[in-house]
Amino acid sequence: MKFTTTMIHQGEEPDYGRSGDVIHPIHLSTTFARVDPEKPTGGFEYTRTSNPTRILFESKVAAAEKGKYGLAFSSGLAAETNVIASLLERGSRIIAHDDLYGGTSRLFEKVFSKFGITYEKVNLKDPSNLSSVRGKYNMVWFETPSNPLLGIIDIKEISSIAHENGALVVVDNTFATPALQNPLELGADIVLHSTTKYINGHSDSLGGALVLNREDLFEKLVFHQNAIGAVMSPFDSYLSARGLKTLELRMEAHSRNAMEIARFLRDHEKVEKVYYPGLEDHEGYNVAKAQMRKFGGMLSFRYRGDVKVFLKRLRYFLLAESLGGIESLIEVPYYMTHASLKEEDRRKLGIDEKLIRVSVGIENIEDLLEDLQNSL
Ligand SMILES: Cc1ncc(COP(=O)(O)O)c(C=O)c1O
Repeated sequence: MKFTTTMIHQGEEPDYGRSGDVIHPIHLSTTFARVDPEKPTGGFEYTRTSNPTRILFESKVAAAEKGKYGLAFSSGLAAETNVIASLLERGSRIIAHDDLYGGTSRLFEKVFSKFGITYEKVNLKDPSNLSSVRGKYNMVWFETPSNPLLGIIDIKEISSIAHENGALVVVDNTFATPALQNPLELGADIVLHSTTKYINGHSDSLGGALVLNREDLFEKLVFHQNAIGAVMSPFDSYLSARGLKTLELRMEAHSRNAMEIARFLRDHEKVEKVYYPGLEDHEGYNVAKAQMRKFGGMLSFRYRGDVKVFLKRLRYFLLAESLGGIESLIEVPYYMTHASLKEEDRRKLGIDEKLIRVSVGIENIEDLLEDLQNSL
């Protein structure tokens, strides 16, 4: 089965003995009755541990990433917390790409450092930088494309170097989505998603997911999923499962619009630089072309004019954090999504007052281009 066929049919077998629902219902029950005190009758005990609607989403997201196991959490950061709390110990060392969602850096720097887990930033766009890291490290963590500079990291190459060192590889696939890129097939150990973004796709559900193939890691993660308790709710599971059914269609539309907007911005005199991996002069174009099916809906650019005036003039691009919904959103990472990074770190990477990040929606492209043209 191809991607969209799998997303529509996976886990949706009608329950002919009862209602015959074509669409899987939302199971809101927090607890499940049994006839035998020694074992659950229908396979479920308590919703934190497991729930039929969450299982539906977990099986779909696993199939989407071509992995064996899927796990769903209450947010992307809850999924991240689960990875670290389950698989690392005091004294563990994480190597992460230097361009990372601000909340992820904050989690490493402000929370897990208290438990003796250290975190170092390395530019992983050049894999030789990972080869040059001295000493043992336990986990390599990156987003590709990265947030907000759309850096491309060679998943195969980095996974092979990390594995030689005995480290696990975690790829945050939130920007690319499983419709465009499958990191497990390229050597990653764990794929992570903020399902809040493209997977749900409509800016109305908060969630996170992990997908992996290794049973030993899954056992640790599923134990901690229940022990920590930051699980995805039945309603969010239903919305995220529904989102997966149209993910591929949406990603085609997001990618098509983003490519047109990237080209338009590149040719505009008021724009200094565009960061979009689908442009042939992007430094990661060849790697992106090899590991992604399309280039996605996210781009950033540097504006030569007054950023605040430009933002105020826009009609369709709403000024808001987050990304991956059907509507176009725009933001300034320096003030917004990446404000939690240290000032010097932001400036070193080029995240300043002139950098604008766009989540290109699926509105009509002529309307979007006209809006940008008028406002620039
Ligand atoms: C790439 C990436 N990973 C993880 C997260 C965290 O996800 P959540 O906001 O669902 O906790 C975000 C949030 O913006 C993100 O952009």
